Amino acid sequence: MAGLFISFEGIDGVGKSTQADLLEQYLVEKGRNVQRTLEPGGTDLGQEIRHMLLHRKGVVSARAEALLYAADRAQHVATKVRPALDAGTDVITDRYLDSSVAYQGAGRELAADEIRRISLFAVEGLLPDLTVLLDLDAAYARARRKTTGVAPDRLEREKVEFFEAVRQGFLELASAEPERFFVVDASQTVEQMQAQIRARIESLLG
Ligand code: TMP
Repeated sequence: MAGLFISFEGIDGVGKSTQADLLEQYLVEKGRNVQRTLEPGGTDLGQEIRHMLLHRKGVVSARAEALLYAADRAQHVATKVRPALDAGTDVITDRYLDSSVAYQGAGRELAADEIRRISLFAVEGLLPDLTVLLDLDAAYARARRKTTGVAPDRLEREKVEFFEAVRQGFLELASAEPERFFVVDASQTVEQMQAQIRARIESLLG
């Protein structure tokens, strides 16, 4: 049987990787094989692309940026995600194609349907079984990011308005696909959020 494919989405600073780590622990404790991964940068090629996207100096055009994310995702799915799922391993990814639609579509004013189309081309139509959207006010998320003390990357230097547009983009995606998305209020504690996510996973596992 194919593994379960779960993506975590949300603006920067909402706690995706903490929740993904805790869910991984939970599934492993249940005896399942789990591959934890991320975008951009889930493969060797992807690491190079990630570096270009986040740290390269100078202008990156909106379309070039969208295609770099799509290239990262194509390699990720072809060489890591799909083989794992086919082998019966669950895959938990920190970001997937909804990030492109929300960031490059809503945030950077490319048409969301075009971004979705190039993303679906990149992954040959593979969608997650469940997408956990951690939803948080952009100003609050920014304040949380600052407390980590890590220098912001190229995208994190964007204004609060950019992240608020991205957040709205995610919420629109969630309301368009309520079956696939599970929206979690990320102003709750780590434990409260994880309990809700585990309950949703249980209902998926049946
Ligand atoms: P990360 O910090 O969550 O690893 O993601 C790096 C940045 O890349 C983050 O600011 C979100 C952004 N991003 C996009 O703009 N489009 C995408 O498709 C993905 C996967 C990430």
